[in-house]
Amino acid sequence: MTNSISRIAIIGLGLIGGSWVFSLREKRPDISVVGFDRNVDSMEQAKSLGVIDEFAFTAREAVANADLIILSVPILAVRELLDEIKPALSNDVILTDVGSVKGCVAKDICDVFGAPLPNFVLGHPIAGSEKSGIQAVDPLLFKNHKVIITPLEETNPEAVKVVSELWALVGAKVELMNVAHHDEVLAATSHLPHLLAYSLVDTLAHNHENKEIFNYAAGGFRDFTRIAASSPKMWHDIFTANKQAVLDALDLFTHDLGQLRQAVAESDSTAMMGVFTRAKVARDHFSKILARRAYVEPMKTQQINYIANPGGSLSGTFRVPGDKSISHRSIMLGSLANGTTEVSGFLEGEDSLATLQAFRDMGVVIEGPHRGRVIIHGVGLHGLQVPPNTLYLGNSGTSMRLLAGLMAGQKFDVEMTGDESLSKRPMNRVANPLREMGAEIDTAAEGRPPMHIKGDKPLKGITYTLPMASAQVKSCLLLAGLYADGETVVTEPAPTRDHTERMLKGFGYDVQVNGDTVTVKSGGQLTATNIDVPADISSATFFMVAASIAPGSDITLEHVGINPTRIGIINILRLMGANLQLLNEREVGGEPVADIRIQYAQLKGIDIPEDQVPLAIDEFPAIFIAAACAQGKTTLTGAEELRVKESDRIQAMVDGLQILGVDIKGTEDGAIINGFGVEGAFGGGEIVTHHDHRIAMSFAVASLRAAKPIKILDCANVATSFPGFIELSQNSGMNVAIES
Ligand code: S3P
Repeated sequence: MTNSISRIAIIGLGLIGGSWVFSLREKRPDISVVGFDRNVDSMEQAKSLGVIDEFAFTAREAVANADLIILSVPILAVRELLDEIKPALSNDVILTDVGSVKGCVAKDICDVFGAPLPNFVLGHPIAGSEKSGIQAVDPLLFKNHKVIITPLEETNPEAVKVVSELWALVGAKVELMNVAHHDEVLAATSHLPHLLAYSLVDTLAHNHENKEIFNYAAGGFRDFTRIAASSPKMWHDIFTANKQAVLDALDLFTHDLGQLRQAVAESDSTAMMGVFTRAKVARDHFSKILARRAYVEPMKTQQINYIANPGGSLSGTFRVPGDKSISHRSIMLGSLANGTTEVSGFLEGEDSLATLQAFRDMGVVIEGPHRGRVIIHGVGLHGLQVPPNTLYLGNSGTSMRLLAGLMAGQKFDVEMTGDESLSKRPMNRVANPLREMGAEIDTAAEGRPPMHIKGDKPLKGITYTLPMASAQVKSCLLLAGLYADGETVVTEPAPTRDHTERMLKGFGYDVQVNGDTVTVKSGGQLTATNIDVPADISSATFFMVAASIAPGSDITLEHVGINPTRIGIINILRLMGANLQLLNEREVGGEPVADIRIQYAQLKGIDIPEDQVPLAIDEFPAIFIAAACAQGKTTLTGAEELRVKESDRIQAMVDGLQILGVDIKGTEDGAIINGFGVEGAFGGGEIVTHHDHRIAMSFAVASLRAAKPIKILDCANVATSFPGFIELSQNSGMNVAIES
């Protein structure tokens, strides 16, 4: 396509246009470049630097015989330039520009030519520096930078293609956008910061009391104001050309600045901390925000595979990260409480951070997390504010399902989305009973996310029997019950984790638990409290299984939550013959906790009691590994819920274990595993995890009893529940590493 270009004319020899042609000439030495600039020095310098082959003495002369014309002049000079070159333009010449405002250039073209020019491709590279002029040219300026092209309806797609390819040649990434949207986005992300930088430097430089600023201008001043050294003429033109969008962005900023001024004047620490904590998170994740994505979206583009080498045994005393379920709930209830809640041991995994960000988005001031410490400035049950955007919940089913209940009770509308895995998970299990309570909820086909929840729909309490044993559904309805008229009564078919009930009580809310039935009423209040999150028994599971299957192992896991609704893994491993002791049992903030010592023992196959299934629901991928190493047959039934977790965990484990040579058969609601026993071993192979964190970690554990290396694909999501898994595994004696 770009082969049709053999001669380029560039009008305006500055940093941006100059760097583009300079870099193009390196890639395509066959293209000749003629330049024109009103400043003869710039032309001579461009020629001696090798940016252009020759220069012309008028713009009109420069464009004659060119296949591509690049306009790289200040924006307000474009119109006059178009008038000048108009008579010299051939029908098929392609034109493009590099200016920071597109609407006014589109208008200039129409004014000069009477209609849009199909061969004029409006472009804007998002790169540059405070330096200007041809002497600053940099052939690498655009490498990995975005270039926004804003085609009009009339623009010739072939011309767009040529210009896009010429940008791609110099390493830029081309994106298409419409003109108005471009000008609005750039007003906020580029034009406003330049305006503020100019204004701040001018104010400080003219303030006689601040004479010394330039002597002490190392840190904040320098970082904040670098761009005030940019070309005044160029920016004058940009603010003039994009006046309305800049004024809109400035008005919004002025309003917010006024509020911050007031917070400082009134020593309103909560308001100040709100601005600073939100801004810090936003700045830390700013590249994702620029891409208009959520703050905590996992880096899906980053592919992480594990290589788990055979053998090893575990030793040591250590603590795994905080409980995921309790971490989620601490943010939710802390946000809805009156007063300030301090959380320690918070899980800094992507799932619980998604919940944290959702509440920040709804106006709750949350400090941290810092080394597991979070301070939540509760807003009360009715204090949440409408979030500015869709709540993005990443991989976290718990966030979406529990939030669905809370959101149904709010005055405002909310949309919730998630990643590819969450987008496939069933939400009707919460949407349907919430609808019975009076909520108005839309989902995608078959009850999948996104979920749209309408605000201001009065809820009424219902009496509901869960069709499946699910703590998420139970919790969702109890949280909706905080806002529902009358009593909300939930009965479960089998005991499931009761952290919501315990924590509500911890926050002073009246919850009645009667056998398998839980009742809440609206009208109460949550009172802030402190929460010590125990280590997650689900994360501890990988090490319990690891130590149980690797001869010579002896480890102690500290401060693990042993809530009776979570100890299926302990019961099942003990039935299989594991050597496991609970030490130092105690209660911390309403949750039982213990240190767990596990030593290697020869395991035997069992029929897993169905009543243990909900109590070990997240632990089955690891239990499958234990069963494969056990002597004899293990049978799992009544576990169909495993098919709708972050992946279909029955299928994922059956497929993976078969690759490693295990005799395993999946059934509708479980599996039959013929363990290879003490003499046997896993083979090697490549495991597909379906981006499921627990599948990934389970196969890492399997390597302890493998004869050959196991490669585990797509492990980035381990960060959803177990940041630091690799380091802890290595330190305790496993031979697992991230593939380099
Ligand atoms: C959870 C409940 C369980 C569990 C999930 C966390 C919770 O899900 O699998 O990891 O925190 O309430 P279900 O309610 O779907 O069983």
